[in-house]
Amino acid sequence: MKINISPKSHIRGSITVPGDKSISHRAVMLGSIADGITYIDGFLMGADCLSTIACFKELGVSIDVSGQSVCVHGVDMHGLKPPTRPLDVGNSGTTIRLLSGILAAQRFTATLTGDASILSRPMMRVVAPLRQMGAEIDSPDGGVHAPLTINGKPLHGINYTMPVASAQVKSAILLAGLYADGPTTITEPYPSRDHTELMLKAMGIRILADEPDFEGSRSITIWPAQGLHCAHINIPGDISSAAFIITAAMLCAESHITIQNVGINPTRTGILEAYKDMGADIAISNRRLWNMEQVADISVGTSHLHGVTISGSIIPRLIDEIPILAIAASLAEGITIIKDVQELRVKESDRIAAISHMLRNFGVEADTTDDSITIKGKSRLKGCHIDPKGDHRIAMAAAIAGLAADSNTSIEGAECVEVSFPGFFELLNSLGY
Ligand code: S3P
Repeated sequence: MKINISPKSHIRGSITVPGDKSISHRAVMLGSIADGITYIDGFLMGADCLSTIACFKELGVSIDVSGQSVCVHGVDMHGLKPPTRPLDVGNSGTTIRLLSGILAAQRFTATLTGDASILSRPMMRVVAPLRQMGAEIDSPDGGVHAPLTINGKPLHGINYTMPVASAQVKSAILLAGLYADGPTTITEPYPSRDHTELMLKAMGIRILADEPDFEGSRSITIWPAQGLHCAHINIPGDISSAAFIITAAMLCAESHITIQNVGINPTRTGILEAYKDMGADIAISNRRLWNMEQVADISVGTSHLHGVTISGSIIPRLIDEIPILAIAASLAEGITIIKDVQELRVKESDRIAAISHMLRNFGVEADTTDDSITIKGKSRLKGCHIDPKGDHRIAMAAAIAGLAADSNTSIEGAECVEVSFPGFFELLNSLGY
């Protein structure tokens, strides 16, 4: 599907965005292995989370979907059934990595596969620690890439230091740790999103996260579990989706938007901090807690931005927002340098390459290294044609750039936004003129 975006000003309204993708995945996964029925409201009906539902149905869990509500009939920690065919995670890295942790402990063999992007993403980061715990995991190239065949085994608790700050890796080990014969401790170089820890705690699991040390690293310990309590989970709006709309309001003239009920878990709000440092007019109000997750309303207006340098511990806290941050930087005064982002090379696409290609099409000067992007801001973008090659966040970043460009922009294969933000283009159309 090709979409044409015309320049806009006056982005106005009070809206909500679809539910948080990371929390939606976890609610289905933990609800499936809990005792009793877990009710989920505000579930993200995006392709990635629907893949998680499909995988757990294949594992014998009964799951009812109605609108944005999901009812998961938990089978308890030991009630999953052997699947009759390979489990297809589609485009979802969170599904394949977290599910690996659960499957590592089951008394059956299962195979996990996915689309071309998934089959090219690194899996050894979960395979290695799960093997240390005692799991048998293999693939045609020895566990480097999916399809992964996981032969569940009795697991041991381990002490594991993660080489990269990845919530997917941390969560896979924590989920395997539920089934281990002793405590498991994971140390991450910087705090990554902690939705798994918060939801496990809310479901009655003994888990303890230290405060980060002076270099930013922190440890999390989980103890073996007898069972998880079922829950009623309200999912906040996804700050990663809100970031696109926030940026549209910042970049378009005479604009003001309020987004209600957005998750503002501090491990996810790096983008708000970076934008405030760039001079953005952002306000947070109506703070509250939903199932241990912080939620608030975010208001934002047209902003005059200037370049910044970001690096280090903030990066895992805004890793998915870098494509849209790069668009904001393109229209900021001066230079923006984004460092320590080697992880972008192994996302849904090589996002360092995809971002620099996108920016150059919009007429922006961008230099890259293995792990950094340098962007020279300018006052106007030029409308262009973008092929996001199936990467949802590149497609949405390009669409927002198109709103602030001097002429029309067309986006090829725009249906990929369904992965995380169903209704994105309809919402955008309803906001501006
Ligand atoms: C996610 C963790 C992050 C993020 C991804 C979702 C999660 O990936 O980029 O979109 O739900 O745990 P990494 O763990 O690879 O950093």
